[in-house]
Amino acid sequence: MNNNNSRRKFLGNVALAGLASLWPVEKAMARARGTHTTADDTYRFITPPYLQRMTPRSVSIMWITSRNCYSWVEYGTNGQLDQHTHHETAGLIDANDHVHRIDLVNLQPNTTYQYRVCSKEITDFHPYKLQYGATITSETYTFKTFDDKAQSVSWLMLNDIHDRPASFAPLLALNNNAPQDFVFLNGDMFDFQTDEQQIIDHLLTPLTQTFASQQPFFYTRGNHETRGKFARQHAGYFACPGDRYYFSFTQGPVHFVVLDTGEDKLDDHVEYSGLVAFDNYRIEQARWLEQEINTPAFRKAKYRVVLMHIPPFNSGDAHGTLHCRELFNPLFNKGKVDLMICGHTHKYGVWPPTDEHHYPIIIGGGPKEGNRTLIRVNANGHSLDLSMLRDDGVEVGTYNIQRS
Ligand SMILES: [Fe+2]
Repeated sequence: MNNNNSRRKFLGNVALAGLASLWPVEKAMARARGTHTTADDTYRFITPPYLQRMTPRSVSIMWITSRNCYSWVEYGTNGQLDQHTHHETAGLIDANDHVHRIDLVNLQPNTTYQYRVCSKEITDFHPYKLQYGATITSETYTFKTFDDKAQSVSWLMLNDIHDRPASFAPLLALNNNAPQDFVFLNGDMFDFQTDEQQIIDHLLTPLTQTFASQQPFFYTRGNHETRGKFARQHAGYFACPGDRYYFSFTQGPVHFVVLDTGEDKLDDHVEYSGLVAFDNYRIEQARWLEQEINTPAFRKAKYRVVLMHIPPFNSGDAHGTLHCRELFNPLFNKGKVDLMICGHTHKYGVWPPTDEHHYPIIIGGGPKEGNRTLIRVNANGHSLDLSMLRDDGVEVGTYNIQRS
C-alpha cells in the first residue's frame, strides 16, 4: 500500500473542504480550554460526539478525549464512511488538543449522513519530531441535515437547569419522541463555571446520552454561565453560529434571533470584582440587532422568534432586565417580533402582548422539581403552536399564532 499517495489524497480532500469553510471568521468566541485531569489516565473518549450549529449544508461536530491528539471525522451517505475531514486554522491542522471541533461543509440538505469521529494520540511533540500513539474510533452515528426547503420547523427549549444533570432526561422525555429539528438551551445550565469536568458531567454527558450525537443543540448563555473561574473557557466547548453567543438563523418558516443578555446586576456590582463589561456588550448586540431587523431573512420570515435568557419585562427591575428593555425592546417592536421565549425568573408564565411589548413573552420554569418545564414549538405555514409542559406532564402554558 502506498501510504504517501493515500496521505496526499486525504490531505487534498480536506484542503478542498477547508477552502469552502462557511466560517472564515473565528474571533469572538475564544477557544481557550481547560486541561483534562482525571484519576483514570487511559486514552479514551471523554464524551461522545455532539452536534453544533447545523445548517442545510453544514454541521460542526465536537468531542473530548482524555489526551491530546490529532482528530478527524469520517462520514458519508448510504451507509458509507468514504469522506473524511479535519479542521485547519491559519495553515495549521488542528492537533495537540483534547477538545475537538470539526466542521463538515458542502453537505447535501435534508440528507441522512453516517459519521464517526477518530482521534490519534500525540504522545510526544517536539519541534521537529512528533510521536503518534493509538487511534481511537467512536461508534457510527447518523444525523440528517436541515431541509433548506422545509415548510415547518419544530424545536424544544430548556432553560435554568442549574447544575442538575438528572433533569435533562425526564424533561426531554415529556416530548414523547415527537420529531424535532433541534434543542435550544436558553441559559443557566450551570450555577457558575468551575472547570471542564462540570461541563462534561452536567451538560455534555446527559445531552449525548439523550440526543446530541444525532441532533444538534443551540445554546446561549444565561447570567450564571458568566460566573465562576471557568467562565472564560466556556465558549471553547461549544460552536455557536458565527462563533458568538448572539446570532440568527432561519429554519423553515421561522427566523430565530438569539441574544446573550449578560449579567443581571450593574457591571460595577461588588460580586463581579470589576471584571465584567456587559453594558458595552449589550450595546454591541443592540447595534447588531438594528442591522438584523432590516435583513431580508428577518423581514421576510413568516415568524420572527427571539430567544434570550433574561426577559425584558416581567422579571423585576434589576439592571440587566431594564437595560435589555431600554436597548432591545424598541427594536423588537419596530421589527415586529412575533414571539419571545426566555428563562431566568424560575417562574413559568405566558405574557401576552401589551402596549409596551408588542409580542408575547413566554418564560420557562426553574430548576426545582415541580417547577421545571419543557417548551415545544411547532411552526408551519399556517400556524405556530407553543406548548409548555411542567415536569409532571401538565401543560402549563400555550400560545398560538395564526397565519392566513
Ligand atoms: Fe436561572
